[in-house]
Amino acid sequence: MIDRIPFPAPEITTSEKLSSSGVLVVFSTQSSSGKVEVDRVSDLDSSLKTVLTQLIESTEIEGKTGEIVTVGTGNPATPMMVVVGLGDPTELTRGRVIEAASSVVRVLNKKPRQEISFLVGDSIATANHDGLVIGAITACEGQHLYQSEPGTHVPSKFTFIGVSEQAAVCGEQLGSSINVTRRLVNEPPTIMNPTEFADQAAAMAKKEGLDCEVWDEARLDKEGCRAILAVGRASTSPPRLVILKHNGGGSEPPIALVGKGVTFDSGGLSIKPSEGMVDMKCDMAGAATVVGVMRAIAKSGLKRNVIGLCGLAENMISGDAYKLGDVIETRSGKTIEILNTDAEGRVVLADTLDVAVQHKPTAIVDLATLTGACMVALGNEVAGLMTNDDALCDDITEAAMSEDEPVWKLPMFSLYDEKVKSKVADIKNVGEGRWGGAITAAKFLENFVGETPWVHIDIAGPAFVDSPKPHRDAGATGVMVRSLTKWLSSQA
Ligand code: BES
Ligand code: MN
Ligand code: ZN
Repeated sequence: MIDRIPFPAPEITTSEKLSSSGVLVVFSTQSSSGKVEVDRVSDLDSSLKTVLTQLIESTEIEGKTGEIVTVGTGNPATPMMVVVGLGDPTELTRGRVIEAASSVVRVLNKKPRQEISFLVGDSIATANHDGLVIGAITACEGQHLYQSEPGTHVPSKFTFIGVSEQAAVCGEQLGSSINVTRRLVNEPPTIMNPTEFADQAAAMAKKEGLDCEVWDEARLDKEGCRAILAVGRASTSPPRLVILKHNGGGSEPPIALVGKGVTFDSGGLSIKPSEGMVDMKCDMAGAATVVGVMRAIAKSGLKRNVIGLCGLAENMISGDAYKLGDVIETRSGKTIEILNTDAEGRVVLADTLDVAVQHKPTAIVDLATLTGACMVALGNEVAGLMTNDDALCDDITEAAMSEDEPVWKLPMFSLYDEKVKSKVADIKNVGEGRWGGAITAAKFLENFVGETPWVHIDIAGPAFVDSPKPHRDAGATGVMVRSLTKWLSSQA
């Protein structure tokens, strides 16, 4: 995949002064008093200034959030300017900066271009300059991978005027890692099966200098990962477990990131109807997020030890499929009763979390497209958090909210514990029908983390979306790559 369809790799450069060729993007704002301003207007030559002043006076440019005005200037040095509204500068969040850059690039990418330059001034805080690069790069990746005429193009070069080299590098590292996550998810499920996913993760690890171990069926069997093997048993693509290690923190104990990697979820014998199955290539988004975050921290050289684990299996149907009524002894020794083969993510995670615990991490964060119930609770833009450690959960929440990736904590009262108790095994893989389904899934997982501080992030809603928005294509979003990278960096 990595070489088969190349990733967008526009050249990213920075500059102090305007030396424009190609399209020039400038930012406008509208303060609460209604005053419209264009950033660094004084850097522009007088003919361009005049055009902008006229357009502001005629209210063609209002500086509102989401406004994109294309201006033919008649000036041969800068024939085209695009004015992007940022709204009230005092309310400009990091997410809005990323969205502004991404939205304008998505418009401009409708035509092939050499260079897109951004003139960056005071309205965007220096701390968010990398966000412009993130937005520009993520705008170039989408779900059009297999269209013969994609209708979207990648410019050869982005120039960021007024952005430091360091911010540009950070933005490129993070933006391209988000694209890796999205690509893994957007690839069709027969291509991105467990072995291919593992190969891709291993290739990335090699390139970025991460340690990588891949457990095949024989190793999974030897390690007692009977739960992962059960879910994957009906598939012709055998399951895998990938362990990535970033060793930036010397002898300190690691932080563990764990991802659900069900490369396709048919539901198994508890088969899904077509409407429910159609997007189930996205069911490895948790694992893909782990790969994206590991790549980002490897590139930035984070001074911490972080270990990323991806539990990979394809949930299919055959004469050998795992069955309702089966009892599986997980790697941890706890037994689980299978009452619905479509609740397979928690089964895969049971063993994956156990492998994580064995590395004695100070914290475990798992990511999973785990339950439709979480989408019923929170909708498709908000991830659910469930935890056994409120302080850790607060830290993750703070990082996520600062990245404008909204999350919301659901309760983990002990009254839910009995809802996953089984009559024949230690626990069962479904709770009380649909009621509290996101929480009972988390309660199941909690059985496999022991005393380790742990946060479970249910990304079933935001990881994969039906419709495009101005700032992003439909399909995989790469949600939580930024938040977790931010959280890990704040630990350093
Ligand atoms: N992968 C699904 C959850 C899902 C649904 C993710 C929609 C993304 C979008 C998961 O494996 C699943 O099927 N969960 C069941 C659990 C139930 C059988 C207890 C669900 O949510 O219905
Ligand atoms: Mn399922
Ligand atoms: Zn699933």
